[in-house]
Amino acid sequence: MQAGKVPRHVAIIMDGNGRWARRRNLPREAGHRAGGEALRRTVEACRDLGIEILTVYAFSTENWKRPRAEVRALMNLIVEYVRKERQALIDNNVRVIAIGDIRGLPEATRREIEGVVEATRANTGPILCLALNYGGRREIVEAARSLARKALRGEISPDDIDEETFARELMTHDLPDPDLLIRPSGEMRVSNFLLWQMAYTELWFTPVLWPDFGPEELRQAVESYQARDRRYGGVHPEET
Ligand code: IPE
Ligand code: IPE
Ligand code: MG
Repeated sequence: MQAGKVPRHVAIIMDGNGRWARRRNLPREAGHRAGGEALRRTVEACRDLGIEILTVYAFSTENWKRPRAEVRALMNLIVEYVRKERQALIDNNVRVIAIGDIRGLPEATRREIEGVVEATRANTGPILCLALNYGGRREIVEAARSLARKALRGEISPDDIDEETFARELMTHDLPDPDLLIRPSGEMRVSNFLLWQMAYTELWFTPVLWPDFGPEELRQAVESYQARDRRYGGVHPEET
């Protein structure tokens, strides 16, 4: 790895499980299970690179449109993943947090997620943020509602609402915005992920399918990130 700043917060859209399975003549569920393995590898690789926060898109508010059996398999696999990884996450001082409508998940999945969040709450190491039943638009609408309620109760004035107060209402309120977004599987869209937070995120796409993703792909993404010039709309002093 070249010298240079490692992204502090990496976000990943874990896509391509279904295509990975189809290419092997396997059921889509097998692709999702292999996706869990890729997540385990990637969490370790992030730790090795010194990435502080990894946010992964595991289930979107739109994914409920999928066949019932696939949704059920995904929910069961989330339980399976957490049970399998729980001890390693605790031992590695990882703090697990969740964004999205967790209460809208099936009971068993919700309990497993809440359990690992609670069990790792005091950990001080890397953060693994699981986006589950998450939608960027829904998150923004919820934030607007919450501010409207506060205004109605007279706790704030509409004029107090600015980008900072708005961001504090989002589910990511205690995280910095992602520095780097990775989307595998060749799709080049954000699919309703972290819409507010990605205003100035660097994007990196790869045709590699998520179940084949690992330390090498992460290294490529980080190297690309390190070569980027982040201007945030400004110009460098030496160019003026
Ligand atoms: C991502 O893989 C997993 C989830 C959306 C939960 P997909 O299931 O979307 O895989 P493709 O896009 O069909 O290959
Ligand atoms: C995005 O992938 C959601 C997750 C990876 C959880 P999708 O496969 O659902 O997105 P689209 O349908 O290709 O946009
Ligand atoms: Mg997909």
